[in-house]
Amino acid sequence: MSKERNLNIEVNPISNTAITTLIMLANARYESAVAILEQMGVEKEKVFRGVDPKDMVNRPSDIVRELRYVALNRTIEESGFNVLMDLPCGYTPKVFDFTKKGMQYIGCDLPAVINDFSPIIASMTDDEQKKMIDFQVVDVTNYESMKAAADRAKGPVCIATEGLTVYLTPEETRQLCVNIRRILSEKGGCWLNADVETLEYYMAVFKAVAGDRAMELLRAARKGFSGQSDTDLHKNHENVVKSSTGKMNVDYGKIEALYRSRGLLVEKVPYYREDFTLQSFGFMSDEEIEKLKENIKHVNIWKITPDPDFKEEYTDTADESGKAVDQELPFEVKSSLHDGVFRVSIQGRMDTITAPELLKQFQEAQNGITDIHVDVSKMAYVSSAGLRVFLIMYKSLKDKDKFVMTGVNAAVREIIETTGFEEFFLR
Ligand SMILES: C[S@@+](CC[C@H](N)C(=O)[O-])C[C@H]1O[C@@H](n2cnc3c(N)ncnc32)[C@H](O)[C@@H]1O
Repeated sequence: MSKERNLNIEVNPISNTAITTLIMLANARYESAVAILEQMGVEKEKVFRGVDPKDMVNRPSDIVRELRYVALNRTIEESGFNVLMDLPCGYTPKVFDFTKKGMQYIGCDLPAVINDFSPIIASMTDDEQKKMIDFQVVDVTNYESMKAAADRAKGPVCIATEGLTVYLTPEETRQLCVNIRRILSEKGGCWLNADVETLEYYMAVFKAVAGDRAMELLRAARKGFSGQSDTDLHKNHENVVKSSTGKMNVDYGKIEALYRSRGLLVEKVPYYREDFTLQSFGFMSDEEIEKLKENIKHVNIWKITPDPDFKEEYTDTADESGKAVDQELPFEVKSSLHDGVFRVSIQGRMDTITAPELLKQFQEAQNGITDIHVDVSKMAYVSSAGLRVFLIMYKSLKDKDKFVMTGVNAAVREIIETTGFEEFFLR
């Protein structure tokens, strides 16, 4: 693995989850998914784990991914837009599905994925197809990167999301909403988010296959996925509510209110269609298929558009001395090492795209560091990727009290507190 790729993955290990859907689609016998895996050098035999009807963990998990993939693709097609912004694209074959239908395709993802995936697709496409395809490095919390991707579009865009928002902190989700609104207001189009009702589509499949044991088996499946990323590090449960019977539910009203507060309107588009079909039906009993069709009638993809009547309110983020931090400052890391003290000052936005630079400078200086002083007075924003790098630095110290962060402005303080990192950085 190259050094750059290592740094990228270390600041945001969520990139490790990117290949899961591809493998599951290959298992459901999608030729294009198999072809991508082969191009990546993965042997067919290693991918096909075979389908065991009694396997109540892997089999429904495969069905879940195909269900989401098919439902979202269908809704993208029905949206009627000619440009698909696949956010995040991971390694799925959407690029082939939609260019075949004459749509322009813009695949967006973190650097670790784009640097890997775009050459693979380039090697599988001819000159005519290449004219319809773009890949862009995007961190959804970074507006400039999203705008650069959207600027490739030759018209209004359909932004499609599957498998992203579950990994974002509440603050990152808010930032994503603000960015989506700005992009859609400028370009026109819509945002299709298949993630909001994740619990519902998982339950629809697990109930169809496992009946009353659905919840227990779903937990087992989720355990299998954990470890691919470190989202448990932050608190990502602000929309989960416990009912009087102790059952966990998602508060969809609260999520919709968040979107509305960021100037976004929600329309719910059901997964179900009369002619709905999956390749996985080939591995399911008639009874399971009927139950699944029934169960998905109440599951929706959220179609989101800007509210034309929304009035934007700007709030300055004041620093400790009361001055606002300039959001447009370019990213910069300055560091020095003297007598074991690693001093670093950060300017601008620390996110998945910029944070590898800090990690690089820290790793280059690492030997003999006893104290770390971080000045964040000019840091406009920090995403979980940036916090992860701070945590790596913090953990490297023998005496944790020797980690000192200064100049924390109100916005950054709120992010650190809501993500649960205050015990490390704000002592
Ligand atoms: C589970 S994968 C889903 C990918 C693809 N949509 C699919 O269904 O296979 C999660 C993806 O989110 C990407 N991701 C995570 N955080 C991101 C961020 N802040 N900005 C852009 N992409 C991000 C990861 O790199 C990864 O490709």
